[in-house]
Amino acid sequence: MRHIIDPTDLSREELDEVINLALDIIDHREKYSEACKGKKLATLFYEPSTRTRLSFTAAMMELGGNVLGFTDAQSTSASKGETVADTTKVISCFADIIAMRHFEEGAALVSAMNAGIPVINAGDGSHSHPTQTLTDLLTIKREIGRFDNIKIGFCGDLRFGRTVHSLIKALARYSGVEVILIAPDELRLPDYMKYEVCEKYGVPYREVKTMEEVMPELDILYMTRVQKERFLDEDEFDRVKDAFILTPEKLATAKPELRILHPLPRVNEITVEVDADPRAAYFRQVENGKFVRMALILTLLKWAAEGDDKQKLIPEGTIVNQHRCSNRRCISNMENVDRLFRPASDGSGIYRCVYCESKPAK
Ligand code: NCD
Repeated sequence: MRHIIDPTDLSREELDEVINLALDIIDHREKYSEACKGKKLATLFYEPSTRTRLSFTAAMMELGGNVLGFTDAQSTSASKGETVADTTKVISCFADIIAMRHFEEGAALVSAMNAGIPVINAGDGSHSHPTQTLTDLLTIKREIGRFDNIKIGFCGDLRFGRTVHSLIKALARYSGVEVILIAPDELRLPDYMKYEVCEKYGVPYREVKTMEEVMPELDILYMTRVQKERFLDEDEFDRVKDAFILTPEKLATAKPELRILHPLPRVNEITVEVDADPRAAYFRQVENGKFVRMALILTLLKWAAEGDDKQKLIPEGTIVNQHRCSNRRCISNMENVDRLFRPASDGSGIYRCVYCESKPAK
């Protein structure tokens, strides 16, 4: 069974295939209108969502399929203490494919380990959000026409912003990609992203303090919201919440070909005056999310029908129940699952949690 828990679960070729399928869907909508007739998508959303859940729903409806699910964990047996593993086993009896969003990091992986059907990670805590990445890639393809040789500035909450982590992982596999990280000290990109993704794949990255100093060089400016719900300390959130605000004035030195992306929702980090600028692509980006999710659902259901089982959910060299994860939001600290650690791929000899990529607790 193939699942999408992380953007790297798709090879670069498979990723290109999904993007190309989405482009074909855009051009020939009617051709796909019954492609999922009789199939059911379960949307299991334990965390708030507007775009992701509704675009999954719209995607399955446009494919002629049906959708069931929940939008609030309080109305489900999770409130009685049911685990992700058990809920997944139950839903596998009702549906053909699952899209799961959860505040516990690693929840979608645990779901995949227990599902008899494909699982799509629709966001797990601040860890990963691979379908937003597919949305971002389709947007880059349609707006800029290439994935190679781009200079992309990520601005805002690079620490908790799961869309940033997933997009950098996906772009690291193309050539000539350069990443500029624009964030206050408190919201810098996690170490594992720097050492195990950027350095491992030879992606040059620079950390800067203002967007103005890099604006003229950028092909893409990827803005993000400060993720209020992930802060354990409210004062810390107050200190950084207004760190970066994009205004028309700040865009004065940007290239005419620049594109501004944002996974949305926006709070105050892009003023509404920017929306009228043709370089603002974030509302076009939303529509791409539906098309790319249609392509992904079709691809995963096709692989399931073919019996594709080449995905390994537990990496080589994983050790079981020897460490505890240092991340309080990791599913291994919240539910009764095996504690799994794999050797870090940077050769440092340290281990990383299989669910959330954090280090072991000391
Ligand atoms: C993002 C998410 O949920 O991570 N939104 C989305 O899926 N489009 C970004 C965010 O919440 O800030």
